[in-house]
Amino acid sequence: MKKKYIFGNWKMSVDSALIHGFVAKFAQRRDLPNIEFGLAVPFVYLDNVVCSIDSSNCLIGAQNVCEYQKGAYTGEISAEMLADIGAKFCLVGHSERRHIFNESNLSINHKIINLLDKDIIPLLCIGETLQEYEQCTTKAVLAKQLEECLQGIDADKLKRLMVAYEPVWAIGTGKTATTKEIADCVDFTKDTLHSILGDVQIPVLYGGSVNDKNAGEILSIDVVDGALIGGASLDVDKFLAIADKVLD
Ligand code: 13P
Repeated sequence: MKKKYIFGNWKMSVDSALIHGFVAKFAQRRDLPNIEFGLAVPFVYLDNVVCSIDSSNCLIGAQNVCEYQKGAYTGEISAEMLADIGAKFCLVGHSERRHIFNESNLSINHKIINLLDKDIIPLLCIGETLQEYEQCTTKAVLAKQLEECLQGIDADKLKRLMVAYEPVWAIGTGKTATTKEIADCVDFTKDTLHSILGDVQIPVLYGGSVNDKNAGEILSIDVVDGALIGGASLDVDKFLAIADKVLD
């Protein structure tokens, strides 16, 4: 059976008590050999979670990284610091960072370069806004995000890249794209990656209101390599139920 990635993005929605309960129950999960889990953890809890979750099939990562490498950047966290505490991946270009914090494709490009330099997997998020969706410009938006975010980076280095297609209008709204739309956009993303990077297999996940009810249908789409889950990743039972759908 094909491997699927089940990644959670805890955003700014957890505290120590929630994490404690999550970690305890997550440790008792049944063996799911064809699933690679991942959890994107807020910086302040990252070190703790890296130390308390068995990393054999769960990557622990960050939700953001500084675009600069080192130096006088008060309040920022560098790729080197993430590597130092054992983070294995890092989200970049999440729509909340693009739209609330005005993150540009150029700064995302710098972040990817810094992460790869420290052997941390960048999980690049791309996706169109509702307005872009309604104007039928989704594919042009995805192509521009991929091209500008990956510009000038050696294809060989990008072998470890992961991508998540997350339509902005589906994030936290309870709306999901149809299976046809998801398949079409993930396929397009893979074709675009192919034209930029050549013959490299990059996993492409879907994100946007994935839950234990709709995960079976979404994860059964052949081109979809997994899911990036926000709200439903806060509840360990729901998160594990989503992973179980891969086996159904
Ligand atoms: P929701 O699953 O809450 O829609 O969030 C998706 C997301 O933003 C994952 O990065």
